[in-house]
Amino acid sequence: MKSYQKLTTDSTQVPEAGEDNVDGRPLCHQKLSAWWLGGGLLMVAALLSGVTVWVLGQIWWSQHGTPPLAKCVSIPEDLRFDCYPERNTVVTQELCEARGCCFVDSEQSSGSTNGVPWCFYPPDFPSYTLGSVNETELGLVGFLTRKAKAYYPKDIEKLQLSVEFETDTRLHVKITDATSPRNEVPLEVPPVTKKAETPYIPLSSPRRTVLLNTTMAPLFFADQFLQISTLLPSSYLYGLGEHRSNFLHSLEWNTLTFWARDVPPTESFNLYGVHPFYLVMEKTGAAHGVFLLNSNAMEVALQPAPALTWRTIGGVLDFYIFLGPDPNLVVQQYQQVIGFPAMPPYWGLGFHLCRWGYGSSNETWETVKAMRNFQIPQDAQWNDIDYMEGYRDFTVDSQKFGALPQMVEDLHKHGQYYVMILDPGISSTQPPGSYWPYDEGLKRGVFINNTQGEPLIGKVWPGLTAYPDFSNPDTHQWWLENLNRFHSIVPFDGIWIDMNEPSDFMDGSSEGCSQGKLDNPPYGLNPCSTRESIGTSAHYNLHNLYGLMEAKATASALIKLREKRPFIISRSTFPSQGKYSGHWLGDNRSSWKDMAWSIPGMLSFSLFGIPLVGADICGFSGSTSEELCTRWMQLGAFYPFSRNHNTQDEKAQDPPAFSPAARTTMKEALEIRYSLLPYLYSLFHRAHLQGDTVARPLFFEFPKDVATYSIDKQFLWGRGLLVTPVLDPGVDWVVGYFPRGLWYDYYTGSLVNSSGENLKMAAPLDHINLHIREGTILPTQKPGCCTVISRGNPMRLIAALSQNANAWGDLYWDDGESLDAFAKGDYSYLVFNVTQNTFTSAVLHSNVEATHVTVDVLTVYGVGEEPKIVTVNGKEWPFSYLTNQVLTVSDLQLSLSQGFSIQWK
Ligand code: NOJ
Repeated sequence: MKSYQKLTTDSTQVPEAGEDNVDGRPLCHQKLSAWWLGGGLLMVAALLSGVTVWVLGQIWWSQHGTPPLAKCVSIPEDLRFDCYPERNTVVTQELCEARGCCFVDSEQSSGSTNGVPWCFYPPDFPSYTLGSVNETELGLVGFLTRKAKAYYPKDIEKLQLSVEFETDTRLHVKITDATSPRNEVPLEVPPVTKKAETPYIPLSSPRRTVLLNTTMAPLFFADQFLQISTLLPSSYLYGLGEHRSNFLHSLEWNTLTFWARDVPPTESFNLYGVHPFYLVMEKTGAAHGVFLLNSNAMEVALQPAPALTWRTIGGVLDFYIFLGPDPNLVVQQYQQVIGFPAMPPYWGLGFHLCRWGYGSSNETWETVKAMRNFQIPQDAQWNDIDYMEGYRDFTVDSQKFGALPQMVEDLHKHGQYYVMILDPGISSTQPPGSYWPYDEGLKRGVFINNTQGEPLIGKVWPGLTAYPDFSNPDTHQWWLENLNRFHSIVPFDGIWIDMNEPSDFMDGSSEGCSQGKLDNPPYGLNPCSTRESIGTSAHYNLHNLYGLMEAKATASALIKLREKRPFIISRSTFPSQGKYSGHWLGDNRSSWKDMAWSIPGMLSFSLFGIPLVGADICGFSGSTSEELCTRWMQLGAFYPFSRNHNTQDEKAQDPPAFSPAARTTMKEALEIRYSLLPYLYSLFHRAHLQGDTVARPLFFEFPKDVATYSIDKQFLWGRGLLVTPVLDPGVDWVVGYFPRGLWYDYYTGSLVNSSGENLKMAAPLDHINLHIREGTILPTQKPGCCTVISRGNPMRLIAALSQNANAWGDLYWDDGESLDAFAKGDYSYLVFNVTQNTFTSAVLHSNVEATHVTVDVLTVYGVGEEPKIVTVNGKEWPFSYLTNQVLTVSDLQLSLSQGFSIQWK
C-alpha cells in the first residue's frame, strides 16, 4: 500500500501537466496523481494521459441543523443543488430544514421563477469520507464511510470505491455497498487485464479541463436512493435518452426521467428506451463522455451551473468515463464497453413500407404491387398486428390474412423481404389446449411471476396477457420454438418487436400494484414514469432491460432459423441494443414539428451505438398532407433505417397513394438512397467494426466550430455527405449551415466555398439539398427496384476534390447477408484516392463477391482546368468536362475486384 501526502485543504486546482506533484514525477506521466485529504474537502484527481481530472466525493464534518440564512443566500442560484427533488410535495421551510437544508424562496429573493430549487444543500451537508485507499493493478480501491445518517431509509454507511484506468482513454469508477451485493447490470464488458501504458494524447498538448467535479453536493447511497452531482466543463451536453428534445440539451433546470415507457414522443416525458450516457463538448473543442451503467429507474437533473445530478432508485453507481478527445472517439470508446452494433443485412438498408390497418393480406399485397407498378424502390413489406388472430402472437387471421404465405412467397420471388410485428404480451385467456404459446409457456415457467409466484397478468392488444421473462434462458428456447413453428407457415425475414417496455394498459397488473417497497419506493421519481411497473423484485431492476433482452432472444432465434444476419427493429432499447437490433422513434404524429424532431432523435441514437434508426416517415398518427409526406419521404430517404408507417384509420400514405408529381418525387428520393447504398453500407461496416456513427452530427466532423454545436436540422452521412432537408410548409428554399471549406452540390457538382456560414438554397418540392464535402469519394450504384437488383448494377464513383485537389473514399462489400462475413474474410475492401490528378482504386481485400460488379463512371467535382487527355490504366479514354469544373469519364466497365487508375492532364 502506498501512503498519500496531504497536499492542500481546499483547492480544487489541479497541478498543471509538467509540474511536480506528490512523488516528484510530472503529472502527465502518471495515471493517477493524488488524493487530497484535507480539512473539509476530499478530492480524487485522476490524471489520465495528463488530461483528465475526476474529482470525487466530499467530506463535511458538521452536523445536521438549520444552516444560517446568510450562508444559504450566498450560494449562487445556478449552484443550488436540489435537496427536495420529490415531486408532488409542497416543500415547506419545515420539511426542508428537517433535512438540514437551506430554504430560500428564490422567487421572493431574486424574482427568479425558472426552477431554481428553494430547498438546497448547504455547503457543509454531511457526506462520505474516503479512507483505507489501496492501489490495485489498474487503479485504486478505497472505502467511503458516512458518520451522520442521511434522510433516506436504509442509508448505506460503508461503500467501496474503485477507480480503474482501464485503457488510456477510459476510466471506470464504481461505488458499491462495501458489505452486501446489489443489483448490477449483466453487461458483458470485454475484460481489461493490464493497466494502459501509452498515453493516447501527445503530452505536449495536455487538456487541462476538469471533466467532473462532484464536490458541490453530497453523495447519497441508500438502498433505494442513490445520488451524485457533478459540475460540467461546458453546457454543450448531448445524449441522455430516450427523450424528445433538441439534440443539444437545455440545462435550464431540466430533469430527464429514465424509465422505459410506452408513450407517444412528448417533450419532457420519458420514452421507450433508456440510455444513461452523455457526451460533452468542452470549450476547447475536445469531447468526453460519461456512462452510468445502471438499469433502475433514474433521473438526471440538469442545471445551468452547468451541472448534472444523477439519481437512481437502485443498483450501484458504476461510471465509465471516455476521454475522446474528439466526439467520434468518445462514441467509439463508449461502444468498446457496450458492444459494437450488428452489421445489418444489405436489404435492411432498402426502403420499408408498413402500416397498421391493412385490412387483409390482399390489401397488403396490392400495396406492394402498386409500388412495383410505379417502379418505386422497396425492399421490405411489413405487417402490423392486423395479421394476427385476435392480436395473438404466432397466429394468422385465416379469414383476412389467409393469403399471407403466398404474399411472402411472392415477395421472395421478387427479391423482396417480409417483416412482421411481435409483441411480448402473450394472451392468457384462451381455453387450455388451444394456444400453444401460453400453454407451453406456463408449463415451462417462462412468464414473469407476481409476488405470489403466479404469472403476472397485465393487458395489451389481445386482452389479458402474461409477459415472457427474457432474463430466463428457458424463455429464449420457448421463443425460438414459437418462431420456428410460425416460420414454417409464414417464412418471415425480419422481426419488429413492439410494446416491449414492456407496455401494460393496466396500472401494475390485473391485481393492481403490490404494496411492497419495490412498488412504493421512498423516492418515487415522476409518478407517471412508474405507471407501467410490473411489480416483482426482478422487474424493479430489469424493466429497463426488457427490450434488450427480448432483442437478444429474437436475434439468436432468427440466426438459428435463417442462418443469415438477423434484421430486428425494437421499440424499447438499452445500452448494447445495437448488437441485436435497430430502433424506430415510435408513435410520432404527421406534423411538421414531428418531422423536425426526428433528426435530433436519430442523432441521439447514433450516440447510443444504435446506428440503424429512423422515424415513421410521413408520421404515425394524425393525417399527413401530400406536401408533408413528400418532404418527409425526402428526409426519410436519409434515415439509416427508412420506413413509412401509419396508424390505423388514417388515410393511406404510401407513395402510390399520392398524385403523380408527389409519387415521382418520392420515387426519386428513394432512388438517390438506393444509389448511395454502397456508401451507406460501408458506413455501417465502420459502425460495426469500430463504432463510427452513420447519421452524424455536424460537430463530430467540425468539433472546433462552435456554430455546429446546436445544429439538428441538418446532418451528415459519415464524414462526406451533408443532408439539408426542408422542415417547413409552403417554402421553396431552405437555409443550411456550411462549415468552412468546399462543398459540392451532389447533383450538379456546383461549388460552395464556405467561410463557415448559413446559406439560403433553392429547395422546390421535388428537391432535397445534398452536398458532398471536399475530399470525399462516394461509391454509388445505379438504383433498382430493390437491393437485389441495385447490388448488381454498375457503379459510379463521385470524387469531390479538396482545395489541394485530393480526395479519399472506401467501399466495404460482401454478399449482404452472411453471418460474420467480415470476421470470416468473405468480403472485399477497396480504398479510393485522388492525388496529383490521378484517381486510384486499390483492392486491399478481395473475395469473389465483388468480381461481377463493375465501375462504369467516374465523376470528379472540382477539376479546375479542362484536361487535355484522360487515361484509364494508361490507355487514352474519352471524357466530358463541364464549365462548373466537372469531369466525367464513362463506359469504363472496370472490375471492382481489380485495382485501376484514371489520370487527367
Ligand atoms: C405501437 C407501435 O408503436 C406502432 O408502431 C404500432 O403500429 C402499434 N403499436 C400497433 O401495433
